[in-house]
Amino acid sequence: MTTTTGSYHVADFAANLPAEIRRLDAQVDLFWHAEKPLLMRHGLQDGMAILDCGCGPGRLLELVANEFQQLSLTGLEVDPILVEACRDRFANTRHEVEIHQGSAEDPGLPAASFDLIVMRLVLEHVPDPVAALKSLSGLLKPDGQIVIIANDFEFHLRTSPNVAELDLLYEAYCASRRQDGGDPCIGRRLPVLFSQAGLIVKGFDMEVSHSKLVGDQAFFQAEGVGIPAQLVESGFLDQQVFESMIRSWKQMLKDPNHSIMRPLFVGVARLPREADRDHTLANPDSLQRVVDDPEECQGGPGYVSPSSETEEVLARLWSSAMELPEVGIRCNFFDLGGDSLMLEKLQSDVLDQLGIRVPMAVLFQYPTIEQLAGYLDHEVRPVAAHEASDVQGDNTQHSVHEGTFDARNHSQSSASSSSENSALKNKAERRREALSKKKRRAERG
Ligand SMILES: C[S@@+](CC[C@H](N)C(=O)[O-])C[C@H]1O[C@@H](n2cnc3c(N)ncnc32)[C@H](O)[C@@H]1O
Repeated sequence: MTTTTGSYHVADFAANLPAEIRRLDAQVDLFWHAEKPLLMRHGLQDGMAILDCGCGPGRLLELVANEFQQLSLTGLEVDPILVEACRDRFANTRHEVEIHQGSAEDPGLPAASFDLIVMRLVLEHVPDPVAALKSLSGLLKPDGQIVIIANDFEFHLRTSPNVAELDLLYEAYCASRRQDGGDPCIGRRLPVLFSQAGLIVKGFDMEVSHSKLVGDQAFFQAEGVGIPAQLVESGFLDQQVFESMIRSWKQMLKDPNHSIMRPLFVGVARLPREADRDHTLANPDSLQRVVDDPEECQGGPGYVSPSSETEEVLARLWSSAMELPEVGIRCNFFDLGGDSLMLEKLQSDVLDQLGIRVPMAVLFQYPTIEQLAGYLDHEVRPVAAHEASDVQGDNTQHSVHEGTFDARNHSQSSASSSSENSALKNKAERRREALSKKKRRAERG
């Protein structure tokens, strides 16, 4: 019998198997209204070969099969109990779904055979997520995509009125999953994990369910008290906290205007293409050279100063966004304590100073000054100054989806790219001067 590693084992996750299968099914149903359009936006359509990795008892496969009749569907599941449950689901139905026993790390499926791989609430349980992503990327067709849907328990189910004990519950849950080798806060890491696995980040979204949209019942079925009760049993959660949480939960439900909401994180990636490879060849070790010790980055032995104009500008912008005296070019933005607010400031400063509109996904993908400068110098088509001014107040519109990138005319030579860059800097400069003249005129009345 195959043994499973990581922090999910169906036999330990619930008091009994049918209850856990019902909970897993309900977790898929809870988000389907948001997930279906999201998967379609990322290319799900008839005619495709789809793999659901870690398919569990197969509810997602079933919903997809009901909606699309011309798909070739495969489920990959490591746990033999769930393989059996999944096969049972499709036995005697009109759906032809192949259920294969294997793991993300060792799938045992033919290379380059899937248009779309979905992995839902699985990566957080896998001990080496980068190895799993690398292995799955070998199953993608050249134009294929991988969609990872993941929890991040610091952004988990929330209510209004607030059930304060949920904080302690999630703390206990995280401690327990980490002890088993999982990462319950993996949602925020998806773009960086893609990069580490050699994939190109295409998007990073959130899907959200709300009791007003799906009803309270949908949440009760997907959450239940099974996991909290087990956390009490295993000593991670205090019995009194558990009881107090149940009381607060019931109280919350009495409020006629109560809300329950839960988000999930969705990362989308693809295989690198020729143009991406050109960039890597021009910067052979650009993805490896990262110093992750914050102390080393500021004047310590790992400090490397900027050596190009773009690096100098970025180093100034990083210091200002993070309020640090200096930042070495090989320091990882996130290891230095960079957060999403700082990233937004950086995005708007880069636009202002270099006239380049950099999508958030790119900032996640190139987390050091050296990597980002390399990307900007080699692959960027700068936005025109008038576009730049349109964009400034609107970070979300173009931050996540590849289709909206302006920063990626890969066929361009680096020479023409950098001459366009300086032309653009001049334009941006002129625009700033024009704006300040206008401001001075307005002040003079
Ligand atoms: C929380 S369940 C999610 C099931 C399903 N994807 C869903 O959304 O309902 C996690 C699933 O991942 C499977 N799993 C865990 N580690 C795995 C691995 N390394 N490779 C493939 N599946 C794995 C578990 O057996 C389980 O079925």
